[in-house]
Amino acid sequence: MNRNTKIAVAVPLLLVIAVVAFIWPKHDTGPAPSAASKAMPIAEKVARGAYLARAADCMACHTTRGGAAFAGGRALQTPFGNVISPNITADQETGIGNWSADDFWNALHNGKAKDGRLLYPAFPYTNYTAMTRDDSDAMYAYFQTIAPVKQASAPHTLRFPYNQQAMLAVWRALYFKPAVYAPDAGKSAEWNRGAYLVQGPGHCIACHSERNALGASDKGLSGGLIPVLGWYAPSLTSDREAGLGDWDVKDITDLLKTGISQRATVFGPMAEVVRESLQHLSDEDARAMAVYLKSLPNESGKREPYERSKEPEAAAWLAAGAKIYNKQCLDCHGKNGEGIAPHYPPLAGNRALTMDEAVNPIRLVLNGGFAPGTAGNPRPYGMPPFSHSLNDVEVAQVVSYLRAAWGNNAPPVESTTVNRYRNVPLE
Ligand code: HEC
Ligand code: HEC
Ligand code: HEC
Repeated sequence: MNRNTKIAVAVPLLLVIAVVAFIWPKHDTGPAPSAASKAMPIAEKVARGAYLARAADCMACHTTRGGAAFAGGRALQTPFGNVISPNITADQETGIGNWSADDFWNALHNGKAKDGRLLYPAFPYTNYTAMTRDDSDAMYAYFQTIAPVKQASAPHTLRFPYNQQAMLAVWRALYFKPAVYAPDAGKSAEWNRGAYLVQGPGHCIACHSERNALGASDKGLSGGLIPVLGWYAPSLTSDREAGLGDWDVKDITDLLKTGISQRATVFGPMAEVVRESLQHLSDEDARAMAVYLKSLPNESGKREPYERSKEPEAAAWLAAGAKIYNKQCLDCHGKNGEGIAPHYPPLAGNRALTMDEAVNPIRLVLNGGFAPGTAGNPRPYGMPPFSHSLNDVEVAQVVSYLRAAWGNNAPPVESTTVNRYRNVPLE
């Protein structure tokens, strides 16, 4: 088939798909709640729902900085325009106070609003669909207790054609299949619990995956640049990046629950995920997640050793970086980049530095950072920002040095790359 015939076939096909998806039953009430869920005392159900809402980090998107909890209004920037999170407090008019448990399930599991409108996957129902009806009902019970706030949800500001429901119908036909998590009988109950939490409520893939041209995460947890925000969420299936195959379960659990560990600390958007969500997991659930993450296969091949240039300019560039390091960074990160774990992360052998994508260390040096404050690490140590004291060339030099010193071996970074990230807002 040549290109024109392909298009001639594809366009009508997409239209048919759109029409079918459009007229598909608007309301799928799904499975009935289990007897256990029906019998659960309401207070217990609400507490369970509150726990799940933390694990799913519903707060992150549905609350603006300084705004009322769950009243919405946060603009999620996408390459297609902004999607504004709606009010999901128990207000009858502007929130979801008049929704039934079936309506709530239909949103979470099928990505459809009470009035049948298809919802944008900026709301990660593509993950929440994995959650059970009982978990949905527990969250519903919790959201009915959220203090009502009267605040009309703002319209999205997406560009044409992304603002069309038919377009969304096509997207869903291609990338969305509602399905509750199906346990793998060959694996332990703990592993299955971890998989459920990572794939369902945790929606880790929303950041840890590259998005295709239509914004779908169809490549597993193999890492991706977060659009617009400009941080790199490393691959969880590659030992060159943040794959955890060779980590102790204890170190992984520490990282998820406290934000620090012997091996690394979290920063940037991941620090928020730990602060708002993961630190609140029970010890059993955090451990289950760690067991599952550790089991993910390492999909990266061996890296070709980087052949460093022997040119004098290249050596001078690194020497300049070393000088900056010794003056500005050595006190905290140590003469040999050994750090003082868990508070001052080691830089020698730290994978966060040597990934192909160097945006994270660049942004840390520019903006500084704090590990998240958590129950397990209530007074996190911080790193000061250097954007005022170091220019683009100096930041590039010191990051290049980190990528070349103490056994690290990754290509240098350029000052133009630093410049690109200098003025990106933090969130
Ligand atoms: C990553 C951001 C994000 C997270 C996390 C998130 N949401 Fe949303 N949610 C959105 C956005 C954006 C919309 C609007 C989608 C649309 O209008 O097409 C939305 C829509 C909804 C709606 C539909 C409301 C309406 O008036 O139509 C409900 C209900 C909802 N979310 C509940 C939840 C719950 C419960 C959680 C946690 C389990 C959650 N959301 C987590 C971003 C998010
Ligand atoms: C809002 C986006 C976002 C979400 C959601 C998210 N991550 Fe991350 N994650 C990041 C970014 C950005 C980094 C790089 C910064 C860092 O290393 O701390 C990261 C880093 C990590 C690391 C490596 C830490 C290190 O320094 O070695 C692990 C492990 C991780 N994430 C696990 C998870 C798991 C498990 C989930 C789901 C429960 C998750 N992430 C959800 C953005 C996200
Ligand atoms: C006052 C102490 C301090 C100084 C000075 C300092 N850092 Fe840091 N650095 C930290 C802390 C604490 C963290 C962990 C921050 C986090 O988790 O958000 C960190 C994290 C980092 C990381 C990310 C590593 C990881 O896995 O979390 C890099 C890269 C880094 N620093 C480089 C530098 C460079 C380059 C300099 C000098 C230009 C420097 N630091 C100066 C304290 C410091």
